[in-house]
Amino acid sequence: MTREKLRIGLFGYGCVGQGLHDVLNNSKGFKADIVRICVKNRKKKRRIPMSNFTFDKNDILNDPSVNLIVELIDDADAAFKIVSMAMKKGKNVVTANKVMVAKHFSELFEMQEKYKVSLLYEASAGASIPIIRNLEEYYDNELLYSLRGILNGTTNYILTLMHNQGIDYDVALNDARKKGFAESDPSLDVDGWDPKYKLCIITGHAYGLFLDPSEIFHYGIKTISKFDIQYAKEKGLKIKLVPFVGKTNENTITSFVLPRFISPDKYLYNVDNEYNGVITEAAFADKQFFSGKGAGGHATGSAVLSDISANSYGYRYEYKKYLQGTVTNYTRDFRIEVYLRYNEEKDKDLFGFEEVSEYFCGRSYKYVIGIVNLERLYKLREQLQKMDVFIVNTGRKGIN
Ligand SMILES: NC(=O)c1ccc[n+]([C@@H]2O[C@H](COP(=O)([O-])OP(=O)(O)OC[C@H]3O[C@@H](n4cnc5c(N)ncnc54)[C@H](OP(=O)(O)O)[C@@H]3O)[C@@H](O)[C@H]2O)c1
Repeated sequence: MTREKLRIGLFGYGCVGQGLHDVLNNSKGFKADIVRICVKNRKKKRRIPMSNFTFDKNDILNDPSVNLIVELIDDADAAFKIVSMAMKKGKNVVTANKVMVAKHFSELFEMQEKYKVSLLYEASAGASIPIIRNLEEYYDNELLYSLRGILNGTTNYILTLMHNQGIDYDVALNDARKKGFAESDPSLDVDGWDPKYKLCIITGHAYGLFLDPSEIFHYGIKTISKFDIQYAKEKGLKIKLVPFVGKTNENTITSFVLPRFISPDKYLYNVDNEYNGVITEAAFADKQFFSGKGAGGHATGSAVLSDISANSYGYRYEYKKYLQGTVTNYTRDFRIEVYLRYNEEKDKDLFGFEEVSEYFCGRSYKYVIGIVNLERLYKLREQLQKMDVFIVNTGRKGIN
């Protein structure tokens, strides 16, 4: 395939936009020009001349010489408008925006078909880890049993600090803020939304289902206490925030985002700080482990560059699993073993525990370990935000 000379219209010049710029400048063999950059804030100082910038998206979208749009802004609604307009105009798009892709997965798929354009978004899940293209290409003929991992660098950084230094959640969160990992409003990360959006994108390529994010149970780390860390440490475990998707039978999958106990013999145990890791379990390849930086301008910029390069060779996602249609159902009727640290018996009773294997009632805290149904957790999702509890998937049992 011949390589088309790339003329890029870039949206966003923040952490990732500037990271991409640096990565492109250091890839001497790669021929691509950034024609124009669209940003929002007219008062911000820029590190390159103002003549490179515009504040009007149409300056880029209506420029016939621009043959690739790279969308790297932090506003999912504005991004969806930009990306939709670009595709309608017949332009290929590369994006890193997980919120936008996860929320509009079906529409974005349909637009690619309708307007015969390509949308690539490797950086949207796992940043520098090339998981989407691997799921598309490598696992095509594999029976993929499950995928789980650490897909959020901020929470992994906080959990690492709490585990290694024995500090409280608030102190660890502040440290993450100072290092630039956590936003001033960190709820997207610490409440588990961010890994859920990434899980939705991964599910589309692993199993061919474009799930509505609101259908998936997610739970974050914001109510974690030193008791939970202490419990984990006493057992030689770490706590990590782990999204999971897997088959429950031939044509059905389940998925959720929950903190999980990880033992030292597991790949994810040593994925610390802002690093991400993904484990696939498949029939013939068995377990495979991908690891890399899950955030940061240069790491994410390198994944964006990889998509830009793939685009120049005419690469597009084929959505093979969706077209094969082997997996047709999604269920939350799935039983998992969890540790619940709680204060009030009435809170514990809401979970409907079965097969309790451990129970502890101390002066400072109580916990119970047993089987709960995922559907029950999902129904409790609003209440859980206000409860003085913390839930961890033990990872020992998953039964449907
Ligand atoms: N940061 C990471 O490590 C990382 C990793 C993976 C994926 N991502 C994704 O990459 C995207 C960019 O993240 P980031 O960290 O680079 O964000 P960021 O540092 O906050 O930068 C956002 C950029 O978007 C511009 N912008 C916002 N709204 C705009 C609009 N309506 N029109 C034009 N420009 C607009 C801003 O303009 P001004 O400069 O004028 O403010 C800024 O340049 C997000 O979707 C994020 O989820 C980030």
